[in-house]
Order: sequence, then structure tokens, then C-alpha cells
Amino acid sequence: MTETTAVTVRAARPEDEARWRELWADYLSFYELTLDPAITNGTWTKAMSDRSAIFMRVAEVDGRVAGFSLSLTHEGTWIENLDCYLEDLFVDASARGRGVGRALLDDLVALCRQNNWSRLYWHTAEDNRTARKLYDSYVETDGHIRYRIEF
Ligand SMILES: CC(C)(COP(=O)(O)OP(=O)(O)OC[C@H]1O[C@@H](n2cnc3c(N)ncnc32)[C@H](O)[C@@H]1OP(=O)(O)O)[C@@H](O)C(=O)NCCC(=O)NCCS
Repeated sequence: MTETTAVTVRAARPEDEARWRELWADYLSFYELTLDPAITNGTWTKAMSDRSAIFMRVAEVDGRVAGFSLSLTHEGTWIENLDCYLEDLFVDASARGRGVGRALLDDLVALCRQNNWSRLYWHTAEDNRTARKLYDSYVETDGHIRYRIEF
């Protein structure tokens, strides 16, 4: 059972940039991934822009940002309203196991309901047991396998 902590989830703001960049660097390390800094800059810019479908939510614990979700909405062929895709979810290693990840997911579920979006979906690595334990508490996997060509 997760020890519960007071977590506040809100839209990311410009003043979150430095902290987000720290968390993003840790997130990339978790995936053993090196990204061109221009991509990181672009992701931040899109997350702050009303013209982009990408949006960021951050979770605060004791007034400090401890995690974030990055998502985007898009149209779909099987649904009436927008689909919400959760692309990135990360909680600072020192804040894990205290309900921050769950708070970020609960927040997205609530946003989808508020905005009348039709679906919320996401992927994870098959062997990411920690994340899957959290995700399995929301919904069963739909059994789809991803194919991706990189250009
Ligand atoms: C996955 C991640 C976001 C979970 O965040 P978190 O704040 O630790 O999660 P929570 O404290 O909200 O835990 C919620 C549930 O997840 C499970 N869980 C969390 N940490 C766990 C751990 N170390 N071992 C096993 N299960 C764990 C538990 O089932 C917990 O449920 P409970 O409340 O009934 O105990 C976090 O571990 C993380 O950032 N991992 C690295 C990046 C990553 O994998 N992101 C997801 C990519 S798709």
C-alpha cells in the first residue's frame, strides 16, 4: 500500500522550466536516452503554447514539483470527441511510492471527464513492472502491440 502524501496537480507554468528540465533529464536517463537539446527545448515550448496540442501537468509535494505528465489530444476515427494520449509520466525517484504517479493519472482522468474527451490511452514497456502495477489498477491492457518506423 502506498503511503499517501498531500499532492497537488496543476498545469505547468513558465516558472517550472528549470525544475522540469531536471526531471526530464532524469526521465531520459531512466530510458537511457540522449535527446538533441533542441528537441527538449521544443517540447518545453510546445507544452507552454496554447497553439500546441501538447500539454503538461505537474505534481507538487510540499511546494516542490515532484513529477509531471506530458500528453496531447488528437482527433480519432472511432470516437466522437478527442482522444487523449499520455506520452510521458515521471516521478522524481525520491518521491516515488507516495501516490504522486497515481495523482498525476487521476488528474488526467478528471481532465478527460471535464473536457468530454472520449478516451485516455498510453503505452509502456512490457517489462516496466512498477508502472504496470499502477496502470493495471485503472484498466486492463487492450492487447495492442505497437509498430513504429523511425525516419
Ligand atoms: C511509474 C511511476 C510514475 C509511478 O510513480 P509513483 O509516484 O511511485 O507511483 P504511486 O506512488 O502513485 O504508486 C501507485 C501504485 O504503483 C505501484 N507502485 C509504485 N511504486 C512501486 C514499486 N516500487 N514497486 C511496485 N509497485 C509500485 C503500486 O501498485 C502503487 O499502488 P498502491 O497505491 O496501491 O500501493 C514512477 O515509478 C516513475 O516515474 N518511474 C520511472 C519512469 C516511468 O517508468 N514512467 C512510466 C513510463 S510509461
